[in-house]
Amino acid sequence: MSHLSPIRIAVIGSGPAGFYAAGHLLKDADERVEVDMIERLPTPWGLVRSGVAPDHPKIKSVTRIYEKTAAHPRFRYFGNVTFGEHVSRADLLAHYHAIVYATGSPSDRPLGIEGEELPGSHAATEFVGWYNGHPDNTDLEVDLLCSERAVVVGNGNVALDVARMLVLAPEELAPTDTADHALDVLAASRVNEVVVLGRRGPAQAAFTNPELLELGELHDADVIVHAEELERALAVHDAQAEEDVTCRKNVEILRSYAERAPHGHSKRIVLRFLLSPVALHGDDAGHLGSVELVRNELVASDDGALRASATDERETLEAGLLFRAIGYRGIALPDVPFDERAAVIPNEGGRVIDPATGSQAPGEYVVGWIKRGPSGVIGTNKKDAQETVDALLADLAGGDAGSVHVPAETDAGAIASLLRAAQPELVTYSGWEAIDRHERALGEPAGRPRVKLTRIEEMLRVAAAESPDGDEASGEQASATLSGRGPR
Ligand SMILES: Cc1cc2nc3c(=O)[nH]c(=O)nc-3n(C[C@H](O)[C@H](O)[C@H](O)COP(=O)(O)OP(=O)(O)OC[C@H]3O[C@@H](n4cnc5c(N)ncnc54)[C@H](O)[C@@H]3O)c2cc1C
Ligand SMILES: NC(=O)c1ccc[n+]([C@@H]2O[C@H](COP(=O)([O-])OP(=O)(O)OC[C@H]3O[C@@H](n4cnc5c(N)ncnc54)[C@H](OP(=O)(O)O)[C@@H]3O)[C@@H](O)[C@H]2O)c1
Repeated sequence: MSHLSPIRIAVIGSGPAGFYAAGHLLKDADERVEVDMIERLPTPWGLVRSGVAPDHPKIKSVTRIYEKTAAHPRFRYFGNVTFGEHVSRADLLAHYHAIVYATGSPSDRPLGIEGEELPGSHAATEFVGWYNGHPDNTDLEVDLLCSERAVVVGNGNVALDVARMLVLAPEELAPTDTADHALDVLAASRVNEVVVLGRRGPAQAAFTNPELLELGELHDADVIVHAEELERALAVHDAQAEEDVTCRKNVEILRSYAERAPHGHSKRIVLRFLLSPVALHGDDAGHLGSVELVRNELVASDDGALRASATDERETLEAGLLFRAIGYRGIALPDVPFDERAAVIPNEGGRVIDPATGSQAPGEYVVGWIKRGPSGVIGTNKKDAQETVDALLADLAGGDAGSVHVPAETDAGAIASLLRAAQPELVTYSGWEAIDRHERALGEPAGRPRVKLTRIEEMLRVAAAESPDGDEASGEQASATLSGRGPR
């Protein structure tokens, strides 16, 4: 397919998947491709800003790669614009040759047990958003004075992030970009024991080795593993785990923790296995008071994987706090196909599939967690986005009527006017740069990377006041900026 006018692509979501897709599109396409990114928050970077733990600042430096993509003259950023609220699928299909959905998995999975809604019982998604300053979670009530023990359910890296954040010493937290509201609550916390529960054994844990090793190096927390419980779980041979170098190394690290004498720190993380919560019980005040657990045994499934099966053995742990870190979950976008069971947009190699017809939805593509489910580290999304972009560009080059979509509107200014009309408080990339400068300047005196703004209104105020193109201050000027491809 040859085009005199540029190929116009809308990417929905500005996390790693959206930025890798945009980067590949701008770099790989033979034809002149223009990318517009639509993000529901004023701020970009998805979970790199609101998921990655504040004590892992080096990981966040991946945004320098995304900044290069954002600086491309054929890239535009429309922040504070929500797909499905300010702009519809039909609007985008009328203006773009293709839509790339990159909306991640913003929701959580429930445990589905009695008492899950008690005060003190939280989804890790909310807690992570709260300490990372996600505006959706700023007002979350986190009471870390109510209990000396917290329980974290799950054996993935999010469970480790949550456990670590609960025991980091104030001097470890102070130089980070933890949201100010969370710094105060964490510093005053009474929690001195965090029990992390795996429903299966150490060989089946989803931890990665550096994250598990890091637990053993905390300033003021011991890591405790009960040798008898560890070996009981390891008594059932797992052929799949045996072949996996990460699983083998995890077992080695956990055995070393089991052998090690505590340093006598004031806090502890206790890693326990083969245990599932079956009910959460309230105290007299109606707050979470205890967690009832069942002991599991490992049984082989038909595919050879070992799964947890409940025994009759029960145990109760007194605890006023519980965080379920058992995975994130994708949410359906209005008018876009959705697989409820897997909580992803149904696709084949990134091409969206309409479940009604079983065939490709022309002009619609998907990347990242909303494509393949909520797993994988930042880098996983790069290769994943490449697969989708290759499919998209192949469809355009092939010119097959079943896979190519040609929009009715080709003027790049038309969509900008539409978005501005739907969301007068739209934030352009220079608006984000103003927020970024402001946050960094606030952090500098204390040697922190930034002090995050945690409310949309504050972000809009800063974007308007400091942005050189008068981003939010002057509707007319901003509209002019957006209608051409000039300044971002
Ligand atoms: C707590 C946590 C910590 C992590 N830490 C690490 C780590 O240390 N190292 C590592 O390598 N990986 C880490 N990961 C994994 C990594 O963050 C993910 O692999 C990656 O962020 C997934 O990218 P994504 O673009 O698919 O989704 P996301 O990063 O979630 O981005 C999705 C974007 O879409 C936007 N969006 C959603 N809905 C809409 C809508 N309707 N309209 C417009 N925009 C919308 C969201 O606001 C968001 O900006 C972590 C994950 C979690 C949950
Ligand atoms: N530092 C980092 O690199 C970092 C930090 C955070 C996150 N991440 C990445 O982000 C992705 C998501 O992490 P995640 O921790 O949310 O997911 P995850 O790695 O999939 O781990 C989820 C954990 O929850 C358990 N689980 C699921 N349902 C359960 C239930 N009903 N009861 C008890 N346990 C249950 C799973 O156990 P089963 O195995 O038994 O199902 C698993 O241990 C991962 O790829 C992770 O590596 C990376």
